[in-house]
Amino acid sequence: MTAAPIVTLEHVTRSYTLGEVTVTALADVSLEILPGEFTVILGPSGCGKTTLLNMIGALDTPTSGRLLVAGRDLTGAGRKERFRFRRETIGFIFQTFNLFPALTAAENVEFGIDVAGVDGGHELAVSTLEQVGLAERVRHFPHELSGGEQQRVAIARALATGSPVLLADEPTGELDFTTGVQILGLLHQQAHEGRCVLVVTHNREIARAAHRVIELSSGRIVSDGPPAGGTVDLTRLRW
Ligand SMILES: Nc1ncnc2c1ncn2[C@@H]1O[C@H](COP(=O)(O)OP(=O)(O)O)[C@@H](O)[C@H]1O
Ligand SMILES: [Mg+2]
Repeated sequence: MTAAPIVTLEHVTRSYTLGEVTVTALADVSLEILPGEFTVILGPSGCGKTTLLNMIGALDTPTSGRLLVAGRDLTGAGRKERFRFRRETIGFIFQTFNLFPALTAAENVEFGIDVAGVDGGHELAVSTLEQVGLAERVRHFPHELSGGEQQRVAIARALATGSPVLLADEPTGELDFTTGVQILGLLHQQAHEGRCVLVVTHNREIARAAHRVIELSSGRIVSDGPPAGGTVDLTRLRW
C-alpha cells in the first residue's frame, strides 16, 4: 500500500506585482510529497525555493492553483486559519536559527511548545533537547552556544510539538561541514520516524543524501526524483 501524500500542489503559481512589474516566483508547479521522505529542494538563488517552502508552510498562499497540506486545503485559507494550521502542523527551521537571545535553550524550545498549545512545557523542552544531544546545554543562552548547537536548539523547537511536516530553509548554510552533516543526520532521522522533511538548499552535495531531489529553475520544476547515482550515506558528503 502506498501512503497518501502529505503535501499536494496542483498547478501552483505565485507571482508578486510591484508597480508595473510582475515577478513569477513559482510557475505552474505540481508535486506530491509522501510522509517519511527526506526531500531536498535544490536550485540557485532566486529560483523560488523559499517561495515554495513558505507556501507549504502556510506563510504564503498561491496566486493560482491548489495547495493541500496534511489533509487541509490551504488554497484560499485566511491569515487566522493559516496561523492555526502552522501551529499544529508545521515545524520551521531557518538558516539563521531565529532563537530569542534573552531566552535559554530550554526556554526557546518551551516557547515553541506554548505557542503550539501543546502540553509538556519545560519537561518536554528538556527531553527534546536531550534527543538532539544538548542535555548539557539546556540553561545556556544562544550566545553561549556554537552555531551547530544553536541550530540543534532550533530543531528541538521544531520537533517538540510533534509537527508532521518539518521545513528547513538552508539549515546548514551558516555551519561548517562537520556540523552541517550532524544537522542533516538529525533531519534524516526525523524522516525515518515518519515525518515529512523538506530541506531547501543551493548545495548539490547535500542533495546527494536525500531520498528525493526536486530541482527548480526560474520557478519551475526541471527535475524530480532520487539523486543521480542514488542516495549516499551522509559520511560520504564533502563540501
Ligand atoms: N515578497 C516578494 N516580493 C517580490 N518579489 C519576491 C518576493 N519574494 C520573492 N520574490 C522574488 O521571487 C523570486 C524567487 O524568490 P525566492 O523564493 O526567495 O528564491 P530562492 O529562495 O530560491 O532564492 C525572486 O526573483 C525574488 O526576487
Ligand atoms: Mg531562499
